[in-house]
Amino acid sequence: MTGVVSVCLRHRLEEVAERLSEVGIEAPQTEAEGLLQAAVGAKHRQAIYQEERDLSPEESEQLESFVQRRLGGEPLQYITGEAAFRLLTLNVDRRSLIPRPETEGLVEVVMRLMGSNQQAVALDAGAGCGPIALSLAMECPSWTVLAADNSPAALELACENALRYDLRHIQWLEADVTKLEFWRLLQPLDLMISNPPYVTEEEWEQLPPEIRNFEPRGALVAGPEGLEVIGPLLDGASMRVKPGGLVAIEIGQTQGDAATGRANVAGLVDIRVAPDMSGRPRYLIARQPQVSH
Ligand SMILES: C[S@@+](CC[C@H](N)C(=O)[O-])C[C@H]1O[C@@H](n2cnc3c(N)ncnc32)[C@H](O)[C@@H]1O
Repeated sequence: MTGVVSVCLRHRLEEVAERLSEVGIEAPQTEAEGLLQAAVGAKHRQAIYQEERDLSPEESEQLESFVQRRLGGEPLQYITGEAAFRLLTLNVDRRSLIPRPETEGLVEVVMRLMGSNQQAVALDAGAGCGPIALSLAMECPSWTVLAADNSPAALELACENALRYDLRHIQWLEADVTKLEFWRLLQPLDLMISNPPYVTEEEWEQLPPEIRNFEPRGALVAGPEGLEVIGPLLDGASMRVKPGGLVAIEIGQTQGDAATGRANVAGLVDIRVAPDMSGRPRYLIARQPQVSH
């Protein structure tokens, strides 16, 4: 990163980065920048490199409290209150999962397959703080976007994010997407996209404390098998997605075969598992048959 750096701020950055690196945090410099930026309330990260001053006593206290939280394992995004997702910077807190880069990849695959200009009705099932639904609404403004979640707290946060970007045309639905009644009442869809819970109860116990102690269990754990939400999503999609319409679901990297089998049973076609940016098989892609049998 370039720019004039005040000796004092640079010193603070180095000191914080060193403390983070000592406890094994992977990108200590970047995280230290994030904490410092949040502590001084700077809009852009470059600003902390451009201001030639030391921290005020209040900022210093704030930074130290942020560093302590990070050293205690709290994810950076919950401390700063923000996470980047495609074109958006979203408010995040413990009401919902922190959006992940893999999910940006899912949206990317869907955008390519759908094309952004046509009219479409899309459902984001399991919306969380809204990264998928808000990206669709922002990048494809002519689409009708529905977003469902069974967590009122997550939906509240998603609505705050919608207001942040003045994206008022999303329909937010508090609903259990594993229930048949939800799908019965839904309008026909051109796209069903979802990053659902797909972690098994056993896998949850093995996840790092950074996730287990801070992120909502209900956003990640599907049940003993891991397919307890994906299965009903595929059944629901096969009921409500229009002929030729697209189904795209983020899955665990070992779930490709099982999810493909389940999509087959649900009557979907053109089923394939697409890789994420690291080459791992993470996206189940399928279509509703053109002519129903
Ligand atoms: C893995 S998180 C994904 C959140 C967001 N789409 C993202 O990518 O960051 C799954 C979301 O599904 C919601 N969820 C879990 N079970 C659900 C259900 N049965 N019906 C509706 N939503 C559910 C959780 O509350 C959570 O917000």
